[in-house]
Amino acid sequence: MIFVFNWKMNPTKKEEAKSLFGFYYQSLKKKNLKKIIIAPPFLYLPLFFKKGIPLAAQNCFYQGKGPYTGEISPLMLKSFQIKYVILGHSERRRYAKETNEEVAKKAKVAIENNLTPIICFGEEKKEKNLREKNIFSQLKPFSFLFQKKFSQKKIFLAYEPVWAIGTGLPCPLVEVERIALKIKKFFGQENFTNYLFLYGGSLNSNNIRNYYSSLVDGFLIGGASLKKKEVKKILTLVNS
Ligand code: 13P
Repeated sequence: MIFVFNWKMNPTKKEEAKSLFGFYYQSLKKKNLKKIIIAPPFLYLPLFFKKGIPLAAQNCFYQGKGPYTGEISPLMLKSFQIKYVILGHSERRRYAKETNEEVAKKAKVAIENNLTPIICFGEEKKEKNLREKNIFSQLKPFSFLFQKKFSQKKIFLAYEPVWAIGTGLPCPLVEVERIALKIKKFFGQENFTNYLFLYGGSLNSNNIRNYYSSLVDGFLIGGASLKKKEVKKILTLVNS
């Protein structure tokens, strides 16, 4: 199981970020440092990158360099030894109006630069009949992965139904497993199997154990990643 902690746009002060990161570091046994990934805001990444806990950026652009004010290049992440990048989070789709095609373009460039993208997808509304249609329209532009040159590349696919994010209403495991199987079928038919399937949405120290399943490879944790009490309990699981 891999645990990805997405801090989103938190905390607002450098000292708080350092203290939070230090708490993670102290709570983890040294041999388990690589079992988690922390995704802090961009500015905090260089503060932590030598500590041994893998880091993820929360976004990057689909160009390597040039006149793209405000963007961060995958090459820059690489030069800071950042290995992972979250792409297509529903909050970026919502507030920065990112489209499926843009997310796929970003993922392609990230992979070409040997970053591992954590690609987020998930339906907006809890309408069962529309769920799969929405999910597969989000994933369709990722068919570039079926090209031979990508077949061995590792990616993370994070199923995060929007209605489950920050609401205290996680998606039931049986539904998560159903999506995991559909994804397996979708990518498996083209022999693209080098991915990990993650679930995210209202996970916390009380419910995360319910999501241990042979079909789920890991978790994407939002709100609980900022609360030391929650972090402590979740990292106890990681250590056990
Ligand atoms: P919550 O855990 O706060 O629901 O957020 C999930 C998420 O968006 C992680 O990327």
